[in-house]
Amino acid sequence: MHPDLQTTYLGVNFRNPFILASAPPTATADMVRRAFEAGWGGAVIKTLSHEPVSNLPNRFATIRNGSRIIGFENLELLSEQGPDEWYRDIAIIKADFPHCPIIGSIMGSTDSPEGWLSLARGCQDAGVDLLELNFSCPHGYPDRGSGAAIGQNPEYAARITNWLATCSEITTPIIPKLTGAVADIRYIAEELAQAGAHGFCAINTIPSFFGFDLTTLRPRPDIGGMTSYGGYSGPGIKPIALRAVSEICNSPGLPVMACGGIANGFDAAEFMLLGAPVVQVGTEVMLRGFGVIDRMRQDLLTFMEWHSFSSLTDFIGLCRDRVTSFEELSGRHLLLPRFLKNLCNNCGDCITACRDGGYQAISRNNGLPVIDPDACTGCSLCSHVCPTGAIGMEQQAPDRSV
Ligand SMILES: Cc1cc2nc3c(=O)[nH]c(=O)nc-3n(C[C@H](O)[C@H](O)[C@H](O)COP(=O)(O)O)c2cc1C
Repeated sequence: MHPDLQTTYLGVNFRNPFILASAPPTATADMVRRAFEAGWGGAVIKTLSHEPVSNLPNRFATIRNGSRIIGFENLELLSEQGPDEWYRDIAIIKADFPHCPIIGSIMGSTDSPEGWLSLARGCQDAGVDLLELNFSCPHGYPDRGSGAAIGQNPEYAARITNWLATCSEITTPIIPKLTGAVADIRYIAEELAQAGAHGFCAINTIPSFFGFDLTTLRPRPDIGGMTSYGGYSGPGIKPIALRAVSEICNSPGLPVMACGGIANGFDAAEFMLLGAPVVQVGTEVMLRGFGVIDRMRQDLLTFMEWHSFSSLTDFIGLCRDRVTSFEELSGRHLLLPRFLKNLCNNCGDCITACRDGGYQAISRNNGLPVIDPDACTGCSLCSHVCPTGAIGMEQQAPDRSV
C-alpha cells in the first residue's frame, strides 16, 4: 500500500502537498481546472489587484546548465484578469473541485485599507480557503510603494496585516507572502505574527538582473534594447528559500507554505523536513506543464519508502533542529577526507583545488592523491571538486592514503 500524501494547513485539507504558486499556471480558471484534473493538491490564483495590468512582451530570461534551466527571470505583473471575473471563476472551480483548496492572492497599497479589504471580501465570498497577501513582488510594484516594498518594511507589512486580521468580516486565514530579499526575515515574520498573520508563504522571486548577450550587447531580458531588474525563480533560489522557511519555522513558528526552486518531490521533502506542511511550485510547472505532478508525487513517495514513513506527519519538521546558529556549531567533530581508490580517476582536480583554494595538503604518490594529515584541516573542498565521488568526509581518523 502507498503511503498517504494528504496534509493539512491551517485546518484546510489537501489531497497532496503540491500547490500551484501564484504565477502564469494559475492565470485563468481553465488553467486551474486542468491543474486539478492533473492531480495538483491546491492552487494560489495569480495575484489580484484593482489596478489594470498590461504585461510587457519578451519578459522572461533564463540561465541554463546544459539543456536544464536552473534560473528563471521574469518582469511579469499581476493578474490580467480583473477581480470580478476571478470571483465568478473561483466560485465555479470551487463547486467543481470541492476537495481542491483555492488560495486567493491579493495586493493593494499601503495608504488605504479598503483596497485590501474589498479584495479579501470578494475572494472570501467567492469561496477561497485561504488568503495570501502579496507583500513580495520585486518588480513593477515596489516603485509604487507596493509588492516587495511592503515586505521589506515591517511597519507597512504589519499595518496591512492588522487591517485584515482585525476586520470582523474577514474570517479566512491570512497568509503574508514574504520576500527573501531582506536582512532578517525572522524579524519580519515575528512582527506580522504579532499583527495577526495566521501563517506565511515564503518566498517570492528574488530581485535580479540576468546580464548581457555578449554578441549583441543587449540586456536580458531584451525589451526594445533595454531591461529592468526582475524576479529570479527556479532551482537557483532553492537555498535562499530553504533558509527563509527554516528561519520562520523556528520563530515565530506559524505554519509556512514553502515556495522557491522546488523542481521535484525530493526538493519538496527538504522543505517538509524543516516543517512546511505544503509546498508551492511555480517555475517548474511553467517549464514542464501540469503533468510534473506525477513525478513530484512519485519522488515524495520514493523518499518516504526509503525511510518507511507512512504519512507526511512522520517527517514534517523532523530535521528542523538540525539547523542552528553558527555559534552553536562545534569544531569537535573532526571530519577528514577519505579516498576510495577504486573510484579515483586520477584527474588531479582535488590536488589543484587544495593547492590553490585550500591548505596544500594533497600531493601525488605513485600518480595517485595522498593527504598530508598535518596540513589538512578537513575543509572538504577536495570532496566537492572530485568528479567521481572518490572522496568522502569521515568523522573517524581515516586511512588517508589511496
Ligand atoms: C512569471 C512569474 C509570475 C509570477 N507572478 C506572481 C504573482 O502574480 N503573485 C505572486 O505572489 N507571485 C508571483 N510569482 C512568484 C511565484 O509565485 C513564486 O513565489 C516564485 O516564482 C518562486 O517559486 P518557483 O521557484 O517555484 O517559481 C511569479 C513567478 C513567476 C516566475
